[in-house]
Amino acid sequence: MSATEPVDVLVIGSGAAGLRLALELAGALRVAVLAKRELSEGSSYHAQGGIAAVLDSEDSIEAHVRDTLAAGAGLCHEDVVRFVAGEGPDAIAWLVEHGVHFTEVPAAAGGHLHLTREGGHSHRRIVHAADATGREVETRLLELARSHAAIELHEWHIAIDLVTSRKLGLPGPNRCLGAYVLDRNSGRVRVFPARFVVLATGGASKVYLYTSNPDTATGDGIAMAWRAGCRVANMEFNQFHPTCLYHPHAKSFLITEAVRGEGGRLLLPDGTPFMQRFDPRGELAPRDIVARAIDHEMKRLGIDHVLLDISHKPADFIRSHFPTVYERCLVYGIDMTREPIPVVPAAHYTCGGVMTDLAGRTDVDGLYAVGETAHTGLHGANRLASNSLLECLVFARAAARDILARREEVPPPPPLPEWDESRVTDSDEEVVVSHNWDELRRFMWDYVGIVRTDKRLERAQRRVDLLAAEIQEYYSNFRVTNDLIELRNLVTVAGLIIRSARLRRESRGLHYTLDHPHPDASRPPRDTVLVPEPPVHRA
Ligand code: FAD
Ligand code: SIN
Repeated sequence: MSATEPVDVLVIGSGAAGLRLALELAGALRVAVLAKRELSEGSSYHAQGGIAAVLDSEDSIEAHVRDTLAAGAGLCHEDVVRFVAGEGPDAIAWLVEHGVHFTEVPAAAGGHLHLTREGGHSHRRIVHAADATGREVETRLLELARSHAAIELHEWHIAIDLVTSRKLGLPGPNRCLGAYVLDRNSGRVRVFPARFVVLATGGASKVYLYTSNPDTATGDGIAMAWRAGCRVANMEFNQFHPTCLYHPHAKSFLITEAVRGEGGRLLLPDGTPFMQRFDPRGELAPRDIVARAIDHEMKRLGIDHVLLDISHKPADFIRSHFPTVYERCLVYGIDMTREPIPVVPAAHYTCGGVMTDLAGRTDVDGLYAVGETAHTGLHGANRLASNSLLECLVFARAAARDILARREEVPPPPPLPEWDESRVTDSDEEVVVSHNWDELRRFMWDYVGIVRTDKRLERAQRRVDLLAAEIQEYYSNFRVTNDLIELRNLVTVAGLIIRSARLRRESRGLHYTLDHPHPDASRPPRDTVLVPEPPVHRA
């Protein structure tokens, strides 16, 4: 066990949100950034389609606001939507000024940024780096962070829990003082004291058996914030991306929505198009509608995938717009310039999360949440494509500015107790962790997936309660490992999703239930807000 020197700001997560925030602070404050795997690994690196922002004179902030509100099905917070859409052009300009290269139209056609189109957007509005936007942005942000002396980067460090004044029994309002962190290289737990802590840990889609997300997406920030005393909101809204590659050996590979934006058609195995039967916008309807339509057709016909076909476009166009998807499909023997791609929906994005205000502040003093882990009010009941990276960038800057404005008023943390391992031993039954991990993800897929019912949710509740008790006992008796930390968080997040889904007795946006198939018109739409019960136990 060991303590590190206090830093001004501890940023947990090195995706677009965490790194952008660290870079905004680094001239003025000492910052430590943690990543539980390699620094680049996270959803940000894998983002394909791009970043939504109004950059075309034919487009308008008002139209971006309108499209976001329409996708959000009555639950977006309009002030937040206006804030984020309004900041979009500046967020992109900052990236370009700092060396991010986005795809441009040829010089002869003006040389400006190329804008692609995705579902739910009324204009071409998506800035992108071919079909590997996340790789370009994350790589550049990481280069900048690495070159900054005021930023310490710690990879293979997984935060276990936040240290708060309430957990330590200190008087006064609940304040975040740092975090306990498992150094995965040495196996030691270290305490990281900090004046401010920022959760930038990404989403929780690994709670589902099939997901487009990398292994990092285990909802750690949401679970840690919940245990620290923060409210979470709208956890029932899990976005399923309509088109992930269907192939026995292709683990979670996304086929970007931009393929449909550029003319790709969804087909049944016999070649029949079907999206027009579900929505007049066809393939470019918002994601909830397209994913549900595919799920419906798969169940109706007993098929295990549908097809996505863009082979009617010139091969050069396909190869230049979608080089990553093209190459990956070729690995599995699929030439998308000549044949359709087999696709299925998979869990993609966590719309709910830790409740924050416009500066990223949570309910616990000194604790911020930014990026996919936060619930800012932007996405409502369904996120509009490519609004996520935008939210990461805009809220990272807002939170950083708030921290800078408060830096004089917040004192350094008191000395923090070391992690207590005196009552635990090494596990003798790792199989408990792997078995529970599989069981959780499977019943979440079967009972809390694209189409829900009251009965399925009740079943899921019973199972998650059992797992939670079993894992809590295991956690109390055995030394922590990466898998155990993640499983404990996944079970917490699954519990929050199920509770929220059971509270919403209507269908709205991404939450669709056969027992209440319509929006409840008897009252104005409301967020589902869960409040943690005190007392909060020591970590
Ligand atoms: P992430 O980028 O996921 O980073 C999370 C970080 O937290 C990682 O560094 C991880 O190691 C760290 N972390 C997590 N838990 C801990 C812990 N306990 N301790 C220490 N570190 C921890 N959105 C768009 O807007 N446009 C797109 O084109 C797009 N395409 C996508 C394609 C794919 C395949 C996926 C999966 C998502 C896509 N999204 C897209 C969504 C978007 O990429 C994510 O919402 C966004 O990148 C989240 O960024 P983040 O910084 O919040 O988290
Ligand atoms: C995609 O490229 O289809 C993903 C875009 C997003 O999740 O916003």
